Amino acid sequence: MSTATTTPVGPAPVWDVINGFTSYWALSAALDLGLFDALAEDAEDAERADGGGLDAVRLAAAIGADGPGPVTVLAETLVSLGLLAADEDRFRLTPVAERYLVSTAPASMAALVHHSPGPPGAWPGLADTIRSGAPEPTVTADLTELYPALVRATGPTQAAVATAVAAELERRGLWPEQPVVVDLGCGSGAWLTSLLRTRPKGTVIAVDLPNVLPIAERAATDAGLRERVIAVPGDYLEAALPVTSADVVVLAHVLRAEPAERARRLLARAVELVGADGVVVVVDYPRPDPARTGHDTDGDDRDGVCRAARHELLLSLTMLAATAGLGVTVADLRAWAEAAGAELTDSFEPVPRQHVRLIRSRTSEATS
Ligand SMILES: C[S@@+](CC[C@H](N)C(=O)[O-])C[C@H]1O[C@@H](n2cnc3c(N)ncnc32)[C@H](O)[C@@H]1O
Repeated sequence: MSTATTTPVGPAPVWDVINGFTSYWALSAALDLGLFDALAEDAEDAERADGGGLDAVRLAAAIGADGPGPVTVLAETLVSLGLLAADEDRFRLTPVAERYLVSTAPASMAALVHHSPGPPGAWPGLADTIRSGAPEPTVTADLTELYPALVRATGPTQAAVATAVAAELERRGLWPEQPVVVDLGCGSGAWLTSLLRTRPKGTVIAVDLPNVLPIAERAATDAGLRERVIAVPGDYLEAALPVTSADVVVLAHVLRAEPAERARRLLARAVELVGADGVVVVVDYPRPDPARTGHDTDGDDRDGVCRAARHELLLSLTMLAATAGLGVTVADLRAWAEAAGAELTDSFEPVPRQHVRLIRSRTSEATS
């Protein structure tokens, strides 16, 4: 009789998920305490002979904590997460923390950490949302209230994406000297200010909900661009626009929050506006295509495809938790574009994880 035993599978993936929750709150607390900002201030003092960094006593004092014990646990946890570095008894920022977690850094994600998961009430109700197919109306209402803070938090990243997209459009001959741009769901105004800065004679029609649009208007005013922005409050699907055509329509991070039928109509509206010669710019986090979730041509199996798309799947789940949308797939975009007489012509990732697709009327290819 065989006495061979098999080692039971370990629980590491389950702990990874539990630890994801506690890691999130470690980072959130560090941001609330101003821990990264305190270390950044310290790092600015480049002249110091002792090499910089703060020990737990000085770090506790800098963030107004009672004593070094709890601060040490938090800081060492952040070291384990790669968000701080430690040597001897001091803590310092890692390059990631310096770039993304210091509140004044140009690419700061400090506010986004708080707002990216959407309304906190969306998550305890996720099982009910999946059972019923839609979140509670109160959750959706909370998201609308959260949009002003959320779009402000995404502004720095979206400014970088928009600037890169303008260069890509220019390279493809799709960025005229005097463009008319329609920005549907313009959010912080990062897209419209970044685009207009590259075109002194351009105009943007900016559409967003009435509680969000003033943020984009303020951004345009602060950038000295307000007279070249026409602000249209309302639902981007219905709002009456002051133009019937545009060179560029921007749909940045809006389609994934819409139910499929509204998303299809929104893309159709954009395609109609750009006509034969313009271009629709879609930026989103597409989750895997249904066609790729069997064995695909690259030899990836469904496990591999899903693992590679964890970020996009979790952002789609974030949509599911708080909106009527389920995220988008590239197959969705292709089908909606085709239904509107257009096609996906280009895709690029100008900033990590920011997937840009260009959509053009099929007429434009036929005639060019
Ligand atoms: C994730 S944000 C993206 C903002 C901006 N496009 C960007 O990429 O920075 C989604 C935006 O869509 C807007 N939005 C949501 N539903 C809308 C609707 N029905 N009509 C107009 N805007 C809407 C929100 O207010 C928010 O500004």
